Amino acid sequence: MTKEKGQFLFITDLDHTFVGDSEALTLLQALLGEHRRAYGTKIVYATGRSPQLYQQLKVEQSLMNPDALVTSVGTEIYYQDSSDIPDSDWSAILAPGWNREIVAATAAEFSELVPQPESEQRPFKLSYYISPDLAAHILPQVESRLHQQGLRVKLVYSGSQDLDFLPQNGNKGLAMQFLGKRWGIPPESIVACGDSGNDIALFAVGSERGIIVGNAKSELRQWYVENRKPEIYLAKANYARGILEGLKYFGFL
Ligand code: GLC
Ligand code: MG
Repeated sequence: MTKEKGQFLFITDLDHTFVGDSEALTLLQALLGEHRRAYGTKIVYATGRSPQLYQQLKVEQSLMNPDALVTSVGTEIYYQDSSDIPDSDWSAILAPGWNREIVAATAAEFSELVPQPESEQRPFKLSYYISPDLAAHILPQVESRLHQQGLRVKLVYSGSQDLDFLPQNGNKGLAMQFLGKRWGIPPESIVACGDSGNDIALFAVGSERGIIVGNAKSELRQWYVENRKPEIYLAKANYARGILEGLKYFGFL
């Protein structure tokens, strides 16, 4: 697939996607930086991390400054990654049907759900740990309890350990589309990269291009097998090298 070179929106998960192979990451960051200078390409990070844990990773890995930062599994959007003030239009979209107190109280009824650190409990995201064998029979029960109480909440399970409770509209994919509209970038000029369950929304939401890195986790591989489409490319290479492979495949670089 070849296409004319020009501006695009590059949105990527961080842990085990952008980050994981430091040599390839250095090369990818250099190429993206050049593209941004030449064409105004937008670079966005979409991470499950809180802003606090993002800052740690940014320093550890010398990440380039993004044009926007989506944290907490799509529930917060920042235009300066050092800012404390998320986009309030996005928060207003997430609020209907979300009730953090009731979600927390419901989760507390299940002793199998072990709360994640306080830094990862966010205004529109509550997070726990649970093992896959317990998850299989506990999650349906949690879902039906939430449903009984009339809450519109989404459960996202990633990496065989992390369980996130999110508002119905709070996911990485819808945050990506929100930014695409804001910047006037059409779906065919948007490319998303990921490796795990909380990235499925990036690939499932519309017709944006997607790159699944070669080291993807089982829940995302499973989704790919069941939902194969030409817009989504499963890379052979891992981490940033897989991203480079996919960007070339689609003709973005
Ligand atoms: C990141 C977050 C964690 C979340 C996980 C999966 O690791 O820190 O809170 O559960 O991503 O989305
Ligand atoms: Mg990841």
